[in-house]
Amino acid sequence: MSATSCSLCRFWSSSIGKKFVVAITGLVLVGFLAGHLSGNLLMYAGAEAFNDYAKFLHSMLHGAGVWIARVVLLTALVLHVVATIQLTTANKASKEKRYECDNTVQASKSSRMMIWSGLTILAFVVFHILHYTVRIDSDLAALADGGDAYQMVIVGFQNVLVSIFYVIAISCLCSHLSHGVASIFQTLGLRSKKSSAIIDKLAKAYTAVIWVGFVSIPVAVLAGWLN
Ligand code: HEM
Repeated sequence: MSATSCSLCRFWSSSIGKKFVVAITGLVLVGFLAGHLSGNLLMYAGAEAFNDYAKFLHSMLHGAGVWIARVVLLTALVLHVVATIQLTTANKASKEKRYECDNTVQASKSSRMMIWSGLTILAFVVFHILHYTVRIDSDLAALADGGDAYQMVIVGFQNVLVSIFYVIAISCLCSHLSHGVASIFQTLGLRSKKSSAIIDKLAKAYTAVIWVGFVSIPVAVLAGWLN
């Protein structure tokens, strides 16, 4: 094994290395969510704007762009999940050795919450990809194949149960983000006593925009504001 891959192995096996991987991949996913939301908000600009955007995504770099984005996203997601699960398992194993003070109890409670909200998001992402990317529903597939991604989203959210599931999953995602975004700054050493208040405010503002933006779409479809 080369010296480089050995130092990568050492980096990955250390808890600080894994925390760094969780932070950097978290940052990639946070950036993706902001980009995905910006694109989705084009639903409010009408069918033509949204369909042109969907067409552009699939034609970027002669069709290679969407696959490059998928590989980057999938790699970030897998590394994020694997590193988090390994950190939580190691944390559990050393639990007895730790002091039972309030801070420790609080930290383990919030990391338990992070694992559960994280697993719910994972289940949602699988459902979401089957729903709008693979399109297992033949009606949605026919709309998308005909170049009408706008109507595909409208018809998809006209199913009340599906819309309720999206709202619950997006709320879980935002609970995860409300803790995770501020933690990224902490892990990367960018959070000081002086900057912590502004970082917390920025993390809350980002989470609120993500929640309102994503939830507004199924709500607007069910209310008949988007049709
Ligand atoms: C109202 C909320 C949302 C709407 C309307 C929406 C819409 C869409 C659409 C139409 C696609 C298919 C893109 C294409 O292949 O043309 C898609 C893909 C995707 N969405 Fe969303 N999305 C929403 C929320 C989310 C959330 C909250 C997440 C992350 C947790 C997410 C993650 C993804 C991922 C990973 C893909 C697959 C990208 C690909 O490989 O094509 N979406 N979304």
